[in-house]
Amino acid sequence: MRAYPISIAAAALGMIASAASAPTFNRDVLPILENNCQICHRPGEVAPMSLLSYSEARPWAKAIKNAVATRKMPPWFADPNYGHFANDRRLSQADIDTLVAWVDGGAPEGDAKDKPAPVAFEDGWQIKPDMVIEMPNSFPIPATGTINYQYIRVKGSFPEDIWVSAAEMRPSNPAVLHHGKVWVVPPGSKWMADAVPGMPYEGRETGRNDAADGNDILGKFNPGLGAQSFDIDGSAKFVPKGSDLVFELHYTAVGKATSDRSKLGLVLAKHPPATRYFLSSGPTALNLMIPAGDSNAEVVSEVTVGLDDAKLVYVQPHMHLRGKDMELRAIYPTGEAQTLFKGVFDFNWQLGYDFAKPIPLPKGTRLIAISHFDNSANNKYNPDPSKNVVWGPQNWDEMSNAFVGLIFSANDDAAKLFKRSGPSLLPRGPAGPTLAALGDSQ
Ligand code: HEC
Repeated sequence: MRAYPISIAAAALGMIASAASAPTFNRDVLPILENNCQICHRPGEVAPMSLLSYSEARPWAKAIKNAVATRKMPPWFADPNYGHFANDRRLSQADIDTLVAWVDGGAPEGDAKDKPAPVAFEDGWQIKPDMVIEMPNSFPIPATGTINYQYIRVKGSFPEDIWVSAAEMRPSNPAVLHHGKVWVVPPGSKWMADAVPGMPYEGRETGRNDAADGNDILGKFNPGLGAQSFDIDGSAKFVPKGSDLVFELHYTAVGKATSDRSKLGLVLAKHPPATRYFLSSGPTALNLMIPAGDSNAEVVSEVTVGLDDAKLVYVQPHMHLRGKDMELRAIYPTGEAQTLFKGVFDFNWQLGYDFAKPIPLPKGTRLIAISHFDNSANNKYNPDPSKNVVWGPQNWDEMSNAFVGLIFSANDDAAKLFKRSGPSLLPRGPAGPTLAALGDSQ
């Protein structure tokens, strides 16, 4: 019985100790928001509310706890068991614990003298562009409603071949551009060949964006992404003389009619590069077939590396509204298999992942994308669960490919980078193709 009062006293002491060290906004929470959240959660950026100050953040305390404890925020979908990424956005467990303890402790403000200095966000270019290419016209954004992906061809002004070491896509109105890409369309490419420069087109009207045409993604915009450097051990991106650009834009309405005019800044390489940085559409399941109602339809596609010295530096899974997850697997010429990336897929984010270290893919390596789709009525984004779905450009069609960034010798022919192989070559069946199509080597 003597233990009883002692344990009460111990518990009371413990409570006093934890109250004294309970996290406060100014001392413990604000530094985490500054480093991980404010890039998107500040006025004029894509997130719906600002988290710059206590008065702005306090009403969101419960939502913040929930968003970080479930790892819904910051957005990041790679499975931590596979691969290491230079742009990894995940919070540390210690930061999550601090935010949760702050909310559980009543979300106190704390002492003003504990506040860190505010972050000076850069509202101009993060790079010093040598060249800027802008959409010729503003695109009008209605106040409400869904806006389909827009594709706008822009005349390139490249009098000669150029090598690009960094790019930055900037919307004039970051609140409405959810994400965007700028493609290089080299002379002779058939994609959007008849498009009137400056005119917006929707997916169906643009024709097939065929990797064999040499179309390459030069720059992209995701909230918080910033500029992209192609200088990995001296590599750069190649833009052939006479190329045009296509701006691909996914806008969201924000409650009032407005507009956007995005632009792309380029830093030119100072020297001819040793290696070329090339973005390929990678393993691509043009033959996919997703049965109506299937909640976990598997689709597998494959390419085989055809160059001697290619190294993988980037992966970006691409699917549409029924996409659930994707794995990128290498099967090396030795027969050894390795999962390079695995992650949940979220159509709204279209995130890309920069490998912390380039991964050598010897000639003959098979690169395999394994994806799953939810075509059931339980998928709230599913445009129509009663339809069998095949490959196509619109959101209600599907795609399954892993965009991959590779570096290889600047003298190599990019057309030889990959050969389509394995399941990618099968005729379209009633479902899949699935992992079974890999045969013994999976
Ligand atoms: C890359 C941009 C980005 C970053 C970084 C980011 N957010 Fe968000 N956040 C958004 C956007 C966009 C939304 C609204 C859309 C959504 O909920 O997916 C959002 C929504 C939220 C919501 C509302 C969630 C809900 O359930 O309604 C909370 C809370 C939140 N973020 C907290 C945070 C916190 C805390 C951090 C940092 C630890 C953070 N976010 C980092 C872009 C971002």
